[in-house]
Amino acid sequence: MTMPPGDGTSGGGPPGEVPPGEEVPIASNDDVVRVRQLVRAAAAAAGLSLVDQTKIVTAASELARNTYAHGGGGTMRVEQAGGRGRRGVRIVFTDEGPGIADVERALGEGWTSGAGLGLGLSGARRLSDEFDLRSEPGKGTTVTVAKWSR
Ligand SMILES: Nc1ncnc2c1ncn2[C@@H]1O[C@H](COP(=O)(O)OP(=O)(O)OP(=O)(O)O)[C@@H](O)[C@H]1O
Ligand SMILES: [Mg+2]
Repeated sequence: MTMPPGDGTSGGGPPGEVPPGEEVPIASNDDVVRVRQLVRAAAAAAGLSLVDQTKIVTAASELARNTYAHGGGGTMRVEQAGGRGRRGVRIVFTDEGPGIADVERALGEGWTSGAGLGLGLSGARRLSDEFDLRSEPGKGTTVTVAKWSR
């Protein structure tokens, strides 16, 4: 299988080692790097422009960091998406962490429960074509994003 060039980051195995649709663990900073590589490869394979690849990689990176830092670790799944004459990627992040008590507040720019800038979720939403956040306090959080080629 021939893979497009990587993300310019090192670490992890060769991109493409994990088949699309497989669940990838997010339990370390190295895993966040790996998420970037996998999403870059999937976005290129879906025909997204370089600019759109970078947008969805940036969104995925923020969401992976949240899964790791706030969710206590979790998983990521990236898949080719399409139908109705369009092509793209869909990425799902899941954790069983503390959840988000006030989703509207968390989605606002500049709100953080920690030492961050509070720009990750709002940035990820802005950079994606589809954004869905489901969270139940005490149970966990699932964020789904999609980007379409244009
Ligand atoms: N997976 C998650 N589980 C629990 N809480 C979360 C999760 N993702 C986000 N949050 C909550 O939403 C807040 C806002 O997230 P956001 O990514 O916008 O900012 P941040 O992570 O605090 O800072 P940064 O700008 O570095 O991303 C977080 O501070 C956290 O309280
Ligand atoms: Mg964040």
